[in-house]
Amino acid sequence: MEVLIVPTPDDVADLAASVVVDALPTSRPPVLGLATGSSPLGLYRRLGEAAAAGHLRVQDASGVALDEYVGLAGGHPESYRTVLEREVCDVVGLDRARLFVPDGTGADLEALIAAARRHEERIVALGGVDVQILGIGANGHLGFNEPGSALSSRTRVKRLSDRTRADNARFFASPEDVPTHCITQGLGTILSARSLVLVATGAAKATAVAAALEGPLTASCPASVLQWHADAVVVLDEDAAAMLANRAYYDASAAGLRLPG
Ligand code: F6R
Repeated sequence: MEVLIVPTPDDVADLAASVVVDALPTSRPPVLGLATGSSPLGLYRRLGEAAAAGHLRVQDASGVALDEYVGLAGGHPESYRTVLEREVCDVVGLDRARLFVPDGTGADLEALIAAARRHEERIVALGGVDVQILGIGANGHLGFNEPGSALSSRTRVKRLSDRTRADNARFFASPEDVPTHCITQGLGTILSARSLVLVATGAAKATAVAAALEGPLTASCPASVLQWHADAVVVLDEDAAAMLANRAYYDASAAGLRLPG
């Protein structure tokens, strides 16, 4: 795992975008794993600039969502399909026809379970995700895998924790409007991506970041699965990095390998 710490959220967006661009294939259509939420918005703007400058193969790229709320009507402004169309397709230039989001509109559990299975099948049909962009919840969730999620889980229907519903209430008119359930890629699904890039900014994430990077690998902190992935990069601002014990080592590693003599 590579941990890169930079001064500000803008610097996080700049650096994470260059990590993503470098990790994407150029000789075939890339498959980008997409998180929603506030954390990756600056990164998406930078990817848009990279695409405009011809540094990102976007014309035939696909985007695969991490998760979707259950029960929001199609076109609801906070459904993750709508958010990703707005924040990624319109900003980066990704074709909406190649944006794949689990369908959370199913009328019953059977329909939702089928939608989750189709999302897994879609990822396989695309040849897997090249770079999965991730944020982290203040409770350590990854995607909508809340504490207690199985480390090998695949895409499925899950209940949102009270903490996550409270954190996401800012996007809705009232806290009761936040859906209670979601369809989320599992931790095993996320680990199947060829590389992971997690971005986190702000003091509210510092405890979760420290637990994920330096605590035990445990379902109690789902984001700790990053420790298991062979190609995971974490880009943090100073505030999000504030509780890391191994900071000096990360900085020295990021400065490059300097052999004595
Ligand atoms: C979003 C997602 C979540 C968010 C996390 C952080 O698709 O799966 O794990 O990444 O809740 O959200 P923000 O970035 O809004 O703090």
